[in-house]
Amino acid sequence: MNQQRKLLKNLTPDYLHDTNKSFDLPSSICFRVTRYCNAHCSFCLAPPDGAHPDVETLIRRLDWLLLHGVETIHFCGGEPTIHPGLPVLLEHVNAKGGKIKLTTNGITLSDELLKILHATGSQVKVSLHGNREHHDAIVGRKAFEHTTCNIGRLVRAGVRTSVQTTVVAGAQEVVEWVAGFCLETKVRRLSIMPFIPRGNGLTRREDYELSSIQRRSLRELVAKKRRAFTGRLDLRWLDFSASPLLVAEADGRVILESSTEARDVLIYQIP
Ligand SMILES: C[S@@+](CC[C@H](N)C(=O)[O-])C[C@H]1O[C@@H](n2cnc3c(N)ncnc32)[C@H](O)[C@@H]1O
Ligand code: SF4
Repeated sequence: MNQQRKLLKNLTPDYLHDTNKSFDLPSSICFRVTRYCNAHCSFCLAPPDGAHPDVETLIRRLDWLLLHGVETIHFCGGEPTIHPGLPVLLEHVNAKGGKIKLTTNGITLSDELLKILHATGSQVKVSLHGNREHHDAIVGRKAFEHTTCNIGRLVRAGVRTSVQTTVVAGAQEVVEWVAGFCLETKVRRLSIMPFIPRGNGLTRREDYELSSIQRRSLRELVAKKRRAFTGRLDLRWLDFSASPLLVAEADGRVILESSTEARDVLIYQIP
């Protein structure tokens, strides 16, 4: 993270126009394969914006990132699994020596993708926001059955799998439920993410944003449960607003994203 802060400090708008300048990016980047999605989460921080790049374009961008110091490509979106080129992209990064992470809503997972995730040693994070009723309400469709079934398939296939849960105001109890699901399913890591007001989430701020008291109490709950689950489940607090996140957008912009769009910094447009 210090690396990201240093990068932010050293980059000036001149970089945007100076195509000859060489510089190293941080070792990991969130790579938005597409902004399209098969779900409709009302809090989505990266909602559809019309960009669905072709495989050649995405490969060119991946090569550029790997050439500029990125070692881990964290595939996300939108929903990466609905891009038909995802298996090819994973194999490409793996062949170039890059490490792979993938965050998905887990609604679709083809046999081909499952096989490639295993073969490439990818780490997969699946978003699951609570029990059937709560999850389907958050995701805006019937998704719980598909997602939980695909978490089981990933675990059984030996893919390194964790669960990621976004918590909105008034829904603290999901922590207990999702932790129980992980223990039952043999998922060894669970990340709890408090809602942040980005993208569509900005318009739902009043409903979803945790007050500072709620946020503190959620954080304390996670710390308490973390101790209780020691040795069985690695329960983590993951706050997107804590420090800027480096993102390659589906339109090729490289951005340091903060808790709100107003604080984002455009670093580069990949040629
Ligand atoms: C933007 S999604 C993209 C990947 C995939 N579609 C998914 O949902 O897992 C990445 C993660 O961000 C979380 N997320 C989306 N909007 C959020 C918000 N406003 N606050 C906190 N987390 C959010 C999602 O729940 C998901 O775990
Ligand atoms: S959070 Fe993920 S699954 Fe939900 S709408 Fe956004 S991209 Fe789709």
